[in-house]
Amino acid sequence: MVRSYAGRRVVDDVSLAVMPGQVTCLLGPSGCGKSTTLRCIAGVDMQDSGEIYLDGELICDTVFRVPPERRSIGLMFQDFALFPHLTVADNVAFGLSGSRAEKRARVAQLLDRVDMAAHIDAHPHELSGGEQQRVALARALAPGPKVMLMDEPFSGLDNRLRDGIRDETLEILKEEGAAVLLVTHEPEEAMRMADEIALMRDGQVVQRGAPYNVYNAPADKAAAAFFSDINVIPGVVHGALTDTPFGQFLAPGVPDGTAVEIVIRPQHLKIDFDREGRGPLPTAKDGVAARGVVQRARFMGKESLVEFRMDHDLSILKATVPNVFLPKPGTAMWLTIRRDRCFVYPEGGVRGWTGG
Ligand SMILES: Nc1ncnc2c1ncn2[C@@H]1O[C@H](COP(=O)(O)OP(=O)(O)OP(=O)(O)O)[C@@H](O)[C@H]1O
Ligand SMILES: [Mg+2]
Repeated sequence: MVRSYAGRRVVDDVSLAVMPGQVTCLLGPSGCGKSTTLRCIAGVDMQDSGEIYLDGELICDTVFRVPPERRSIGLMFQDFALFPHLTVADNVAFGLSGSRAEKRARVAQLLDRVDMAAHIDAHPHELSGGEQQRVALARALAPGPKVMLMDEPFSGLDNRLRDGIRDETLEILKEEGAAVLLVTHEPEEAMRMADEIALMRDGQVVQRGAPYNVYNAPADKAAAAFFSDINVIPGVVHGALTDTPFGQFLAPGVPDGTAVEIVIRPQHLKIDFDREGRGPLPTAKDGVAARGVVQRARFMGKESLVEFRMDHDLSILKATVPNVFLPKPGTAMWLTIRRDRCFVYPEGGVRGWTGG
């Protein structure tokens, strides 16, 4: 699917498939084209080329077009605005057809499910943000859509409320068996909610996979950096090996002279103490230790972040450790890199080789 605005391909050949009962998260930075993708699927915007199918049936190409309200697609957007003049019950019943009794039964069932039965006659302004969000979910689910499109639906909620509502929402969505496409720019939210993550950048899906795989085998440096802070150690390949102050890294099949970047997350650096100018002995798993001096150390809540200035090139490397670890600035320490947790990419390139 392609969608351009003023000649710019905002959605650039995106192809997605979402399965019933599964949550796919469209994850990416602001402006990468997530909402536009969703709007085209919903039918409130229209792609310039490409087709959209539901249950194997074409619902939209550039000629044929099922109107949004007949697509069996539920929508929930960030500003999910309930109708202010309608009660909770009437809001949920809004998109329902059938007899009064049928509608009433479905409304009661859903309000019960989202734990809002007690508020059935309330108006939206009498509800908290979290309560309104639950009513909005019930409203979107009421007609039993085959697909639910959710665009940052939790971003208006405060942190503590959000976690609970996310988990609850996920459970209800799974029960209802809808195929869910959820847009977010928060990696934590995607990791928490998704069966599959589609990582989007500049209008393209750059990687798809289970959260574990996307996190642990990022397609390129930017994909790695999207999920956490990263450290980058430069090197040049000679004879299928990259020499670094942290020892040699395998680079099978990479031509001699190729500049590479070894990428490692701060939690996968290991810190060791200085033993009269020496560090720990090299091991196959962690390679060679390199010395650095603590620049600063900060307590972040569940972990501590320590920044080192490395002796060999004066670069800064960041390491996180669980709990409280706050060495004094100026302290010399030794760092090693977990071989199984680093990624090797060609410098400036977009395709990676695996780590090690
Ligand atoms: N109707 C429009 N007319 C012109 N440009 C648009 C229109 N809608 C979106 N854009 C542009 O398309 C790009 C992608 O927008 P989109 O809303 O899809 O991003 P997004 O990934 O949802 O970002 P965010 O996380 O900030 O919501 C942006 O650069 C935006 O300015
Ligand atoms: Mg958006």
